[in-house]
Amino acid sequence: MAIVPIYKYPSKVLKKTAGKVENINGSTAGMLNDMVDTMYAANGIGLAAPQVGMLERAIVIDYDPENRGKNLFKIINPAVVEAEGEATREEGCLSVVNYSAEVTRAAKVLVRGWGIDQKEVEIEADDLLAVCLQHEIDHLDGTLFLDHISRLKRELYRKRLKKQSAQAPSDDRGKVPAI
Ligand code: NI
Repeated sequence: MAIVPIYKYPSKVLKKTAGKVENINGSTAGMLNDMVDTMYAANGIGLAAPQVGMLERAIVIDYDPENRGKNLFKIINPAVVEAEGEATREEGCLSVVNYSAEVTRAAKVLVRGWGIDQKEVEIEADDLLAVCLQHEIDHLDGTLFLDHISRLKRELYRKRLKKQSAQAPSDDRGKVPAI
């Protein structure tokens, strides 16, 4: 078990595109376990490998903090293969300190990827799980939820962040889950 540092916006690694995992092996399993430990320690409900500096297509999601482990997903090379509808929800991110914003995404998605057992997985999701999957898969392509909001809002956040960075870091997103 290891808790690793989470890179925060505007860190450059968060803008990079992650590469496909070619071999699912012990080191992939170790990375995913570290990501789960790190997500739990940070009280998040999702984490993508680039957020911990690993440019590999791997994500973890556990969207029910009251029942840790019950709805835990570890997905390798995930991709949205079908999407429908639209839904708007307030999102936060473990890599975006002290900020949340409403983001509109597909309401329902079908995601395919691979499990650590080297078996293909298919997940049909709506509601919060659909948000988590799209948010994490975005991370693999260097996209943050900030890229889905208006330029003006993003600039205001960037300015506020600069002011805050001189002070002690605090993180308060209220009740918005960090994905
Ligand atoms: Ni995120």
